[in-house]
Amino acid sequence: MEQSEPTVNDCLVFSVNGERFEVSTIHPSTTLLEFLRSHTPFKGAKLSCGEGGCGACVVLLSKYDPVLDQVDDFAVSSCLTLLCSINGCSITTTEGLGNIKNGFHPIHERFSGFHASQCGFCTPGMCMSFFSALVNAQKTQRPEPPLGFSKLKVSEAERAIAGNLCRCTGYRPIADACKSFAADVDMEDLGFNSFWRKGDSNEVKISSLPLYNHNDKICTFPEFLKNETRPSLLLDSRRYSWNNPVSLEELQSLLGSVEDGNGTRVKVVVGNTGMGYYKEVESYDKYIDLRYIPELSMIRRDNNGIKIGATVTISKAIEALREYSKGGLYSEGDMVYKKIADHMEKIASGFIRNSASLGGNLVMAQRNHFPSDIATVLLAVGSTVNIMNGLKSEELTLEEFFRRPELDSKSILLSVKILSWDQITGISSGAKMKLLFETYRAAPRPLGNALPYLNAALMAEVFHCKTSNGIIISSCQFAFGAYGTKHPIRAAKVEEFLTGKMLSVGVLYEAIKLVRGIVVPDDGTSSPAYRASLAVSFLFEFFSHLVEPNPESHDGSVDGYSTLLVKASELKRISNQLDHGKIPTLLSPAKQVVELNRQYHPVGEPIAKSGAALQASGEAVYVDDIPSPMNCLHGAFIYSTKPYARVKGIKFKPKSLPDGVSSLISFKDIPGENIGSKTIFGIEPLFADDFTRCAGQYIAFVVADTQKHADMAANLAVVDYDVGNLELPILSVEEAVRRSSFFEVPSILNPKKVGDFSRGMAEADHKILSAEYYFYMETQTALAIPDEDNCIVVYSSIQCPEYAHSTISRCLGIPEHNVRVITRRVGGGFGGKAIRAMPVATACALAAYKLRRPVRIYMNRKTDMIIAGGRHPMKITYSVGFKSDGKITALHLDILINAGIAADISPIMPHNLLGALKKYDWGALSFDIKVCKTNHSTKSAMRAPGEVQATFISEAVIEHVASTLSMDVDSVRSKNLHTFNSLKFFYEGSAGEPVDYTLPSIWDKLASSSRLKQRTEMIKQFNMCNKWQKRGISQVPIVHEVSLRPTPGKVSILSDGSVAVEVGGIELGQGLWTKVKQMAAFALSSIQCDGMGDFLEKVRVIQSDTLSLIQGGFTAGSTTSESSCEAIRLCCNILVERLTPTKERLQEQMGSVEWGTLILQAQSQAVNLSASSYYVPDFSSMKYLNYGAAVSEVEVNLLTGETTILQSDIIYDCGQSLNPAVDLGQIEGAFVQGIGFFMLEEYTTNSEGLVVTEGTWTYKIPTIDTIPKQFNVEILNSGHHTKRVLSSKASGEPPLLLAVSVHCATRAAIREARQQLLSWTGLCKSDLTFQLEVPATMPVVKNLCGLENVESYLQSLLS
Ligand SMILES: Cc1cc2nc3c(=O)[nH]c(=O)nc-3n(C[C@H](O)[C@H](O)[C@H](O)COP(=O)(O)OP(=O)(O)OC[C@H]3O[C@@H](n4cnc5c(N)ncnc54)[C@H](O)[C@@H]3O)c2cc1C
Ligand code: FES
Ligand code: FES
Repeated sequence: MEQSEPTVNDCLVFSVNGERFEVSTIHPSTTLLEFLRSHTPFKGAKLSCGEGGCGACVVLLSKYDPVLDQVDDFAVSSCLTLLCSINGCSITTTEGLGNIKNGFHPIHERFSGFHASQCGFCTPGMCMSFFSALVNAQKTQRPEPPLGFSKLKVSEAERAIAGNLCRCTGYRPIADACKSFAADVDMEDLGFNSFWRKGDSNEVKISSLPLYNHNDKICTFPEFLKNETRPSLLLDSRRYSWNNPVSLEELQSLLGSVEDGNGTRVKVVVGNTGMGYYKEVESYDKYIDLRYIPELSMIRRDNNGIKIGATVTISKAIEALREYSKGGLYSEGDMVYKKIADHMEKIASGFIRNSASLGGNLVMAQRNHFPSDIATVLLAVGSTVNIMNGLKSEELTLEEFFRRPELDSKSILLSVKILSWDQITGISSGAKMKLLFETYRAAPRPLGNALPYLNAALMAEVFHCKTSNGIIISSCQFAFGAYGTKHPIRAAKVEEFLTGKMLSVGVLYEAIKLVRGIVVPDDGTSSPAYRASLAVSFLFEFFSHLVEPNPESHDGSVDGYSTLLVKASELKRISNQLDHGKIPTLLSPAKQVVELNRQYHPVGEPIAKSGAALQASGEAVYVDDIPSPMNCLHGAFIYSTKPYARVKGIKFKPKSLPDGVSSLISFKDIPGENIGSKTIFGIEPLFADDFTRCAGQYIAFVVADTQKHADMAANLAVVDYDVGNLELPILSVEEAVRRSSFFEVPSILNPKKVGDFSRGMAEADHKILSAEYYFYMETQTALAIPDEDNCIVVYSSIQCPEYAHSTISRCLGIPEHNVRVITRRVGGGFGGKAIRAMPVATACALAAYKLRRPVRIYMNRKTDMIIAGGRHPMKITYSVGFKSDGKITALHLDILINAGIAADISPIMPHNLLGALKKYDWGALSFDIKVCKTNHSTKSAMRAPGEVQATFISEAVIEHVASTLSMDVDSVRSKNLHTFNSLKFFYEGSAGEPVDYTLPSIWDKLASSSRLKQRTEMIKQFNMCNKWQKRGISQVPIVHEVSLRPTPGKVSILSDGSVAVEVGGIELGQGLWTKVKQMAAFALSSIQCDGMGDFLEKVRVIQSDTLSLIQGGFTAGSTTSESSCEAIRLCCNILVERLTPTKERLQEQMGSVEWGTLILQAQSQAVNLSASSYYVPDFSSMKYLNYGAAVSEVEVNLLTGETTILQSDIIYDCGQSLNPAVDLGQIEGAFVQGIGFFMLEEYTTNSEGLVVTEGTWTYKIPTIDTIPKQFNVEILNSGHHTKRVLSSKASGEPPLLLAVSVHCATRAAIREARQQLLSWTGLCKSDLTFQLEVPATMPVVKNLCGLENVESYLQSLLS
């Protein structure tokens, strides 16, 4: 582990937020993010995925070009950018835009005022992605914008954040905040915010926005740095070096100096984004940065085509291709460049494309079989590459390049040449040929940031043959890739077959049959049949306009495809349109309907979330932002990859252990109990003992000097397992049943059956529901600091510090008063930072206690995804009885819940399931629910645990009945909605009064406000007119039972009259602090002093501290905000009562009393100015029901299985909202998270139960391009609930269930598709009753629409 100090020949110079940094000793593998977070005060850039997939780490990188005397600014992901590569550059982080001391930037303020930041963990990255777009728009020649706006367009503002993930907000408010800067924005289109009130004029609106003055430029590149840009850098030590060769000769000599076989590991690097995919753990000895070699960074066009140097970034290549396609005569060949550029724009995200090189992409495709888009597209247009090896260089076609053995580390790709059309085809553009060129990719996110299931680029030259009056294919080139082969392929057989043929349905059908034989994914590729079907779809789509009967074309000439064979002038016009801002916006204007109520002012005001601007400016402190104390160590977990095995020992791969690894901690080091978490249902061990009982179980905790070293060590650990003579693990719920492996459900939590279940059952069916991962942006994290006298302080990002507190005490074997757990804010929880955060805090505490040094962890995303457990998978079998009019009379359910290895909160699942399942009047309801103990990782609560699954089951039953009876599904829903009487029968004790039951009125109101009837008619028309797109619409109700829990609070008034508030609830982004602040201001203002107008400013909610406020409980179940508010109200009431005598005395003396005077006087009179309370809800009313409904309309693409959510309308009853802005954020955010569950997120395991979707590459949460295009939300104010906290109701979880409407609408659209398929194939009618899995991903949807629907269609035409 010993390492020699590097001898430095030179050093890196750069600036961060205008501050100069000089670095001489750094390992070349250090990323910019690591440096920023551990060597500078700027912690705004966050680590969330570490693989380029989320945008939390985005910063602005600025480079100075001394020749042009201009600064180039662009966003990059700092988690992949290597520090050594930014020599001479300037970095701007969100702190550099503005801060609390010098004033926030309008971006920060508008994010806050548009309610665009909840947990805030994504916000700094969002701000920087947007800032980069803003800066670059200002550099354009567009007309000067009016004051307050920028030159940016709305469509660009939306796209600026397309690569950034947010798990909280649902994106709509973020888009609004960004759009508010766009010169072409219609102020009417901007959503709910705290700047203006409904009805304000545009002038008032504009003047209320925090002013953006586009002339006040932030200096992104400090003057002093302009003199310090040195082209060459050599960071050298005996051990490793970073080299910036400036010529090919220098590069050759550097590569030549590396002797083969001497063990020196060389890494050629450009943008280093490849690391995001391959995540190499070993480091290299020699790094060679290619970007200073002029030949590699040029772009040149001549008659033969365009030559692009290998280090040119994808962004620059797009710019150049666009530029060429614009300039001069707009030929069809130039259209090819434009389409290539369009396709490239879907690669990754802007902040990756800005540093990712073309050459890097192709080398990854050639050497590492990366599923590249560029490789496929360039293959189709007959590109060539230039390769240098030693002193030799050669030109190869891409096909030859891919056929070659994998490129060795000394071979360099110099350039790529995209041939011009004439060169490819050999036919002059003057001939009567028409060039057809299209590129395709089918991916879960339409705008990119997702690898495709398959990509394709298809090119053909066609002409109209007068004699045969048909269209002849003169030549063609088809490439398919990314579908699970090593390299993209040319479909030579298809090309050969089609060349010279006259296009017809029959010919196309034959070509498609050939494609089927060619595009065959390798074994082990996911969804192989789906991928193959995409190739067929794309070939069909490419030619279909030429072969399908066109009603508008009567003469049978080429006019039949005139839309495709547009004249050059037409293309030019389209192109100009695109260039002049006609790019469609992603989102349509949305409506937010909110009724404000001033009865309890400032409660009820839509004030911005407390601390939102601070979150945007990157100054909000999360656990990992707390500076490391002296001697701090870092830990990483070693987890099991086996479901059940004896653990014989742990070794590290020889020679690979990084420096600084200091300790390995396992169950043997535990002084107290082996306990990692606890709930009322039991405990879970911290570490596996001699046996591991699930894949993902913690085996040990490795501690090192840095997080990187700890992670590397954990990665290199080799666990010695022994499975000899052991029982087989239980890896399915069926096996759990066979072996009677269940968790006991306490009788009090056993839901009661409803009604007399003695009616006939008509149907039986079963459904399987998969798991879901939390994907909080901040991964699990903790910092433990040993204190005097065997005490320990633990900073934890956790939803239940109280439980972590006692877990740590038991594990360490020390009394609870020796432990203190502090939590300020959590970067997203969604249930995953409740029980699952406890072992993380406990392991740090254990290590710190043992080593007597501070120990912290910031878990990497992969480990987090593997250990998290997530939502419970289930298997549900049901039988349902119903009348011929659709009224359901009885339902029986058998539910097997996969709870994993430990109880966690799983025994509560039957209760939760039933809470949401009873939303319909099933007549009678019986069930058998088993909570199965399996050798899977422990499943835990995830936002709406059990309720979301129950909602799916309810809708599946309803749809099944409707389908069986051939009835309209919405009428079956209406028929089975509860009357108040049936509601009371089903929800004994929580139904409240008849007036509380708002669902029927919501139902009708929504049907009318969303124009359900008219749209249903329009959809029918649409579906009749469109063969390959089908639409569906669905209205769905929800009933969600919640329950209040006892909650503590404490309010202290300080001598200057400011107020410190402590609550049991944790701020997770849900706005709990904001509501609590409002409540404190409201309740204290009842003392009626003067000068209390801006009282909110006086109140601060402070971090949770388990020794200061005990019995904090869990922040979960949607009700912690309101119970925390109530606890604070009780405290304030006590204080007001104590202060009243003093106030009255003062009032008598002075007439009016200032708040400050009152407090000074009370202090001098020894009034106790601190009050605590423990709010215990009244048993009779602690449970209540929440209601809402949603209508969603979707469009399904039958060729790809893509589902687009065209519109969602929601009405949700918040009672009398405590803060409508916060509640709106909860509703929209929950709904979008629900879309993830129902449509996108696949959380899968291998056969041993080990999670395999372990990062942003495979786990796809919603992004701005997958949310409803139009998203209307109305918060119903039904404020008459006397038993609720100031008449309010919960909003955190119930709206998530509404996303089932998207799933149901998709099913409706698929039904249409199947109906059509039926007409082509004679599919049997029973096929119209089908199951739509959750999540309904593209392969799932396409599968149901028909993997061979194209063939079926063509066959139907042929017959
Ligand atoms: C989040 C994310 C999403 C992505 N999505 C897509 C996508 O949808 N479609 C797609 O096509 N691509 C995608 N990519 C891949 C991306 O295009 C590549 O990572 C990028 O182009 C590589 O360029 P680089 O300069 O960063 O290469 P580096 O990471 O610097 O290098 C990559 C590899 O190539 C070698 N290398 C680089 N240049 C040369 C050269 N000139 N000669 C010899 N060897 C060289 C390096 O040694 C290294 O082994 C994605 C990447 C990320 C991070
Ligand atoms: S942390 Fe860098 S992109 Fe996710
Ligand atoms: S606010 Fe975006 S992730 Fe929490």
